[in-house]
Amino acid sequence: MSATVLVAAAQALTLADGPKDRSRAGAAQAELGLRRDLSVVMQDGRITWIGREQDRPATPGATEVDCRGQALLPALVDSHTHLVWGGDRKDELELRLGGADYEHIFAAGGGILSSVRQTRALTDDELLAESAARLRRMQRSGTTTVEIKSGYGLDLATEQRQLRIARRLAQETGARVRTTCLAAHALPAELRGSPEGRAEFLRRVCLEILPAIAAEHLADYCDVFCDRGAFTPDESRQILLAARALGMLPRLHANEFGHTGGALLAAELGALSADHLLHLDDAERAALRDAGTIATLLPGTSLVLGKPFADGRALVQAGVPVAVASDCNPGSCALENLALVLALACYGCKLSPAEAICAVTHNAACSLGLQGELGRLEVGMSADVLVLATPDYRDLVYHAGSPLIAAVYQRGQPIG
Ligand code: NIG
Ligand code: FE
Repeated sequence: MSATVLVAAAQALTLADGPKDRSRAGAAQAELGLRRDLSVVMQDGRITWIGREQDRPATPGATEVDCRGQALLPALVDSHTHLVWGGDRKDELELRLGGADYEHIFAAGGGILSSVRQTRALTDDELLAESAARLRRMQRSGTTTVEIKSGYGLDLATEQRQLRIARRLAQETGARVRTTCLAAHALPAELRGSPEGRAEFLRRVCLEILPAIAAEHLADYCDVFCDRGAFTPDESRQILLAARALGMLPRLHANEFGHTGGALLAAELGALSADHLLHLDDAERAALRDAGTIATLLPGTSLVLGKPFADGRALVQAGVPVAVASDCNPGSCALENLALVLALACYGCKLSPAEAICAVTHNAACSLGLQGELGRLEVGMSADVLVLATPDYRDLVYHAGSPLIAAVYQRGQPIG
């Protein structure tokens, strides 16, 4: 395939100067490897040359795209989504805007369980179509890699269907997809109301659902909703250890509603990522730092639920690597635009724009084990590049929500 050259970008965030094989924390989180007058040659899906325009070798037959006056950065990596779901919960949104509480709606059998009912009721083709529409909007907003969790099945057949559809979405859209089994997202309605039902669900997850998912290689990771009203740290530990023995690495929904033990469990298990973290003290931050666990902040969810924002500043100061993701899901946050969520991470979590850029590129790629492929602009990396219609990346925060994306390249091809 012929080459495409992005010519003479006014500003390029290469992220090429800090650590490459691991996530960045503290001062390194703001190290963007900023270059001026930079050109990028993309061929066969890879970056094959990068440097100052004046040094660029001749590339006969290449398509040249003038990027003067524009900024380049790695395309965004959304490392926490629940993208495959059926139906919607716009009725709950209105209830919450009228004062109803997310945890109450959940405890009363709405919330996640409402999405489980709607997801179970759809055919595979319907689920694929609804999810693909969302993923295409994400791509147009600058995201080319996405982690997708199950968790709206809560039974083997539907969890499998969700994960198979997540894999099919990669073929359907060209996006890179990593999958996570979140069978322990909520106790299913059919097993509620007795301790025996709860024990039976844990048995099913560990002895039936996870082994079947592993046998079909449907999930790269395992996640648990470890919080008040969902699963305890002891239950979560049991599930994540069972998953790890089957080859699925742990990540965790932790400390969204309180100091509920999730962050400490994530550190204890050396989880790749602990996510949400609205409530975090010094000891919990130190535990995450010492374990090398990435703190994945989801500020869109705080905005939508009217909850406090995670303290990103304290995490950076404590030396914990920070990623930022959309959490795109039918209930607590259906935002698809990670570039907008990046701005929320600045306004809400008090990250600097530079720290937030690293959080949605290199650090997010690290949390998915993709740091050798994505998250930096360097020779050999996948040609996933975001072109901004402005010469200064800080406009993503300054003018948050404006149409600032000039082009998105996924494996060297423009997204239409
Ligand atoms: O990450 N907190 C748990 N799970 C999702 C919400 C899922 C839902 O409400 O459907 C989250 O916010
Ligand atoms: Fe989530």
